This record gives sequence, C-alpha cells and structure tokens, in this order.
Amino acid sequence: HDLSRANTLGLPCQAEHFAAPESVCELREALDLAHCEGWQLTLLGGGSNLILPAWLPGLVIRPSMQGWWLEEGEGDTVLVHAEAAVVWHELVMALVGKGLWGIENLALIPGHCGAAPIQNIGAYGVELSDAIEAVHLVHLDDGREAVLSPKECAFGYRDSVFKGAFAGRVVITRLVLRLSRTPRPRLGYGDLAARVAAEPSALDVAEAVCAIRREKLPDPTVLGNAGSFFKNPVVEANLASRLMVDYPTMPHFPQAEGRVKLAAGWLIDQCGLKGWREGHFGMHERQALVLVHFGGGNAAELLDFAGRVADSVSERFGVILEREPRLVEPA
Ligand code: EPU
Repeated sequence: HDLSRANTLGLPCQAEHFAAPESVCELREALDLAHCEGWQLTLLGGGSNLILPAWLPGLVIRPSMQGWWLEEGEGDTVLVHAEAAVVWHELVMALVGKGLWGIENLALIPGHCGAAPIQNIGAYGVELSDAIEAVHLVHLDDGREAVLSPKECAFGYRDSVFKGAFAGRVVITRLVLRLSRTPRPRLGYGDLAARVAAEPSALDVAEAVCAIRREKLPDPTVLGNAGSFFKNPVVEANLASRLMVDYPTMPHFPQAEGRVKLAAGWLIDQCGLKGWREGHFGMHERQALVLVHFGGGNAAELLDFAGRVADSVSERFGVILEREPRLVEPA
C-alpha cells in the first residue's frame, strides 16, 4: 500500500498491509488480525508530523472514524466530541462558526484530531491542553478502551504521555474538548492583536490566524513539509544571558525555573540557513524553522540534511535543537 501521499513531507513509503477502521469495533478486528499474524503495528493519522521510512513491514492502521457532536456542558461551556479522523482545521472552522471559543488560535494546523494530543498542538499562545477535557483510547495489546483526564495525558510543550510511556501502545480514538460560549480572545502572541478588529468573533480570530500562517508557512499540498521541524529550545538562564550579550535582539521567552525558551527559527535564520537548499531538501524561505522537501528525496537524506542544520546552530550558539516530527522507524 502506497503511503507517499499520506504524509505531508511527501516521502516515499510503502506499507506491507494497511487498514482504515471506521469504528472502534473495526479497529479491534484489525488489532486481532495483526496479533494473529504476528504483524508489527504502525499508526498513522493525517501524516502531518511524521517522517516515514521507505518500507513499513506489518500493518499500518489509519483510524478513520469521522464523527463529531456537541454536548451541553456546565454554565456557558459546550463539550465537543471529535473522533480520530476528523480533520482538525475543519473542526476548528465549524466550531468558530457556531461562536464557540477556545481553539480559534489553532486554526489551519494540519492533521487529524486523533494525533493532536500526541504533540499537544499549539500556536499563537494556545495549546490543545488548554481546551482538552478527555482523551479516549484503545490499548494495542488487548483492545481495552480507556479515557484519560488531561492530567493523565501529562501535557507539556509539544509533549504528552503519548510520546512517553504510551508511545506505540495505544490508539487515540476520540477527543473531548471543553469550549466556551463567552468570548475570550487570546491575542497576546506576535501581531495577532493588530490583525483583528475590536471585539472580534471567534471566526475573526481564526481567520486572522489563517492569514498569518498562509503568509509564512508553506502549504503541504504544494510543497512537502511537516510544519516546524525543530522544537523551540528551552535553555538554562546563564546560556540565555550570555547569548543576549552578543545578540541583544534575540527573541526569548522566560519559562518556569528561570529557564528561557529561544526561537529555533531565529537561530537557524541567523546561521544564514533560511532558504538554504541542498539536493531535495531545504529550509523554507519565509520561515527558517520549516524543513521542506522539493521531491525525490528519502528519510535518510532528510535526516542528514536536518542534522547539518542542527550542527550549524550548535556550533554557533551552543544550543542543541531537538527534532519535532516523529521518526517512524522501520523494523
Ligand atoms: N524568526 C526569525 N526567522 C525565521 C523564523 C522565525 O527571525 O525564519 C523569529 C520570528 O521573527 C519571531 C520568532 O523567531 O521573533 C518566532 O517565530 P514565529 O512566531 O514564526 O514562531 P516559531 O517559534 O518559529 C512556533 C511554533 C509554530 C507555531 C508558531 C506560532 C514550535 C516548534 N513552533 O513557531 O508551530 O505556529 O510558533 O505560535 O513551537 C508547528 O509546530 O509545526 C508549528 C508551525
């Protein structure tokens, strides 16, 4: 089964077997089959945050349950249930259209709902963890269902239990979000406030976010990419203050315990690598943090290229960049 069009980086990938279960029941059948046959399992969502190898032995499962519905919450809140294959951006636009607040800053993030908690998607000062109420999942080993509270999800910056203790052990089948009918715009990030009128609607905020993203971020249907390729590094205070002496205009964001988050895109840009291209890969000309694939390359070449970018940053600034998209390892 060809997955070359099922990953936004556009890397060539063939899976030995493929299943797209449309219900939890079908998902369990696929898991049973894999266990009987002794197949290795790989899970796929929208494929927007993955680096796929050329060959995936065993069974690739792409959960394909597509339902979503609303439930009245307490006070002015509304609970939104969204199954794994609901396209995140389409859900955001449908909900802001209903005047619901909470995820409008997360418009235009590619991918499916089921993958959103894994990296705790975030943009423009909001993270999924700010709005999540529960995550439904199925354990891969025995097919049992469970519901995790936000606390159990252990959300952090681009991080969760699904990258840690639960990595490769569960399938996320449904999210529950808690949204508000009361306007509560969060416009503190960058120039977002300057791009919306006074007393904006949730739709106005989402549209402003879409406009900013379209200016900077390449459309994966046009140019292969997986969004930010590195996490923004969080460094010790003394390293940050040493760098501030040499680079007084360096963007920096104070974090807990005196640590400081730096902008990986800025660091890469300062190394002169914005728009740098070599072979099939490059760093985007409008956002240096986005690695782009011009076509014809593979995962090994991509990792080599990314390694050279990280080496430049480390040599110049003494800052280690960590990869953001998940590397799916062949068996
Ligand atoms: N910058 C540069 N040159 C560049 C890119 C950025 O100087 O080429 C500077 C910007 O001027 C700004 C700072 O770096 O001062 C931060 O840039 P930006 O606001 O574009 O955001 P980012 O830190 O590069 C993060 C997320 C994005 C998210 C935006 C907006 C990560 C790894 N990335 O990017 O998320 O959309 O903030 O909130 O946290 C993603 O995860 O795939 C993603 C796109």
